[in-house]
Amino acid sequence: VNASAPPPAVAAAIDALPADEPALVYDLAAVERRVRAIGAAGRSHGVRVLFAMKSFPHDAVIDLAAAHLDGFDAGSPGEADRLGARAAGRLVSITDPSGRAGDVPAGDLVITVESAAQIAVAPPRARLAIRLAASHLVPGPDAVGGVLEDTGRRTSRFGVRPGDDGSRDQLAAMVAAGRGRVVGFHVHHGGVAATSPARLLATARAALAVADELGLAITWLDLGGSQHGIGDGAVGALAAALAELRAAVPASVELAIEPGRLLALDAGYAVGHVVAGRELAERSVRVLDLSRSCHLRWQRITPALALRQHAGAWRPMRGVLPARTGEARRVLFTGPTCYEEDVIGEWKLGKDDDGARWPDGSRLVVAGVDGYALAWNGGFGGIAPARVVAVP
Ligand SMILES: Cc1ncc(COP(=O)(O)O)c(C=O)c1O
Repeated sequence: VNASAPPPAVAAAIDALPADEPALVYDLAAVERRVRAIGAAGRSHGVRVLFAMKSFPHDAVIDLAAAHLDGFDAGSPGEADRLGARAAGRLVSITDPSGRAGDVPAGDLVITVESAAQIAVAPPRARLAIRLAASHLVPGPDAVGGVLEDTGRRTSRFGVRPGDDGSRDQLAAMVAAGRGRVVGFHVHHGGVAATSPARLLATARAALAVADELGLAITWLDLGGSQHGIGDGAVGALAAALAELRAAVPASVELAIEPGRLLALDAGYAVGHVVAGRELAERSVRVLDLSRSCHLRWQRITPALALRQHAGAWRPMRGVLPARTGEARRVLFTGPTCYEEDVIGEWKLGKDDDGARWPDGSRLVVAGVDGYALAWNGGFGGIAPARVVAVP
């Protein structure tokens, strides 16, 4: 049994797709199960759950988040605009250096700020949270970020950096500029990095220590996203981590998380077709109409189905996935762009019953696709964006 194989409704939707274009296919029932369970875990343990909109910009998913979660995390006022009436009465956390977020019709608005200048233009009705650099709260070899320091350590390019020279004065100046509206902190661990329960807890404790040092009685602590690493995405493991977190943070502090990728784990598939192939000494190379650079950014994928058309119907290629003993060969799947690193992945796979190995027109379905693929889905050099299908 192939554990990555899509459920029947999704497999049927994939069967109905054209044979000559790439597609991203999402199982909305799977997303709904996760959204409901994650929302329930947050409610049970007194942690607000905000949907990181950038992670899955699809109206059906925004609707699910509006129905089952506490609100939204928007990366910009433009992203929050998409909420429309769905923001009403909800909590919206927004990163907004421009001050334009005041137009968002949220019931409760928390704006993440990084400087006194941003505080000066923040709409008066918003609560303000100072962004702290995750890499400077819990330094360690696992710190990730866009800044490559001379020591080789990577640190975050976002947020105030506790511990750095002048950071205490910087924070104190921001609190003063906020005139009582700075309610706490916002920390996010990084774009695609996963966060462990221990790190989440250590980050919360470190943020509380920064507040103590400042003499600021915080009432808000938003720990951002990246919870997909907790128990490999199992919601039970998230619930246990939230319980521990809640116990470690005073009840006077409203706690929030902003999961993105976690909501879509196990829910997405991508479909590509072989358009060309060649044999190298140790591997086969197959070019797909599916491109990693255009259609699969930030994705950790695994092959789910190997299909070929027979008399107009898609059939599994037998003996390919998994490979029959002794017949496995490395197959490198690449995208169709001119970009050398446009590689989908390389796996050890077998031959079809008739001895064919991924002939032109055969179809590869990969699992493990999340909503960021849809968020980034684009074209390049004449390659079109992938067709997007959301299976109800
Ligand atoms: C501020 C913020 N919160 C939450 C998220 C969601 O992260 P993830 O999809 O890793 O859970 C992101 C993603 O980049 C983010 O920038």
